[in-house]
Amino acid sequence: MTAGWQAEVEAARRGDDLVVLEGVHALKHAIRFGATIRRIGSPDPAALDALLGTLAPDVHLPVDVEGVTAATWESMTGGGLPSPALALADRPQDVLDDVLAAGTGIVVLLEHPTHLGNVGAVVRVAAAADAAGVLVVGSSDPWHARAVRGGAGLQFALPVGRRDELPVSDRPVVALDPAGAPIATTPLPQRAILVFGTERHGLSDDLLARADHRVALPMRPGVSSLNLATSVAAVLYGAMVGAPPAR
Ligand SMILES: C[S@@+](CC[C@H](N)C(=O)[O-])C[C@H]1O[C@@H](n2cnc3c(N)ncnc32)[C@H](O)[C@@H]1O
Repeated sequence: MTAGWQAEVEAARRGDDLVVLEGVHALKHAIRFGATIRRIGSPDPAALDALLGTLAPDVHLPVDVEGVTAATWESMTGGGLPSPALALADRPQDVLDDVLAAGTGIVVLLEHPTHLGNVGAVVRVAAAADAAGVLVVGSSDPWHARAVRGGAGLQFALPVGRRDELPVSDRPVVALDPAGAPIATTPLPQRAILVFGTERHGLSDDLLARADHRVALPMRPGVSSLNLATSVAAVLYGAMVGAPPAR
């Protein structure tokens, strides 16, 4: 083990400067989308090399992999990871204010999500669908290691950030709400902010009041709602397949 590894990972988990990348997929996407990688640790560097050769032969590690003991690996990762890589990268600058003000494309906003895995899954599908950004209102940090793991590191592929409330912007706000009008009757406006509610209670009255449109994905009678990330995926891919947003 290289001195300081464990302490640095712990500090990165608590701070805002570094991103903890857990596993090969997070590392692979971070590198593909331009992350500045500071360190990579592994309990088995040869296995990591072989895995990357199979899963991502296009990806070349920008720094040497540091071998760590099994005990250090266990304590760094909180019980191990399915793949033998943990890395530290610089957290990119938050450019969401610029995206909201001037950018085109759809922004996804999650109001007070509680599950970091859901936040990561939303980032992953938003990146795949080429959304303009993902904004989380509330305390769940989309750069938290669990969210980055859930997002397979695709936080590096589009602007992602956290705010305390819905920022002021000239973008139309579209609320996704099972009690809204059928989505097929309301084409998504260009530059929309699509707002999705918390897993248990849905959107707040405050956010619903600020919405220009309130739309629902169709569901079979008896089904109350879709999972948060699933509903984001359905809307983004519906928009992509139906009428790709101009960028
Ligand atoms: C698990 S659901 C919340 C369920 C909550 N009981 C409600 O009625 O809104 C989390 C979020 O996913 C979105 N969602 C889930 N199913 C939806 C649907 N059929 N139509 C529109 N949005 C949906 C909404 O934004 C919702 O706030």
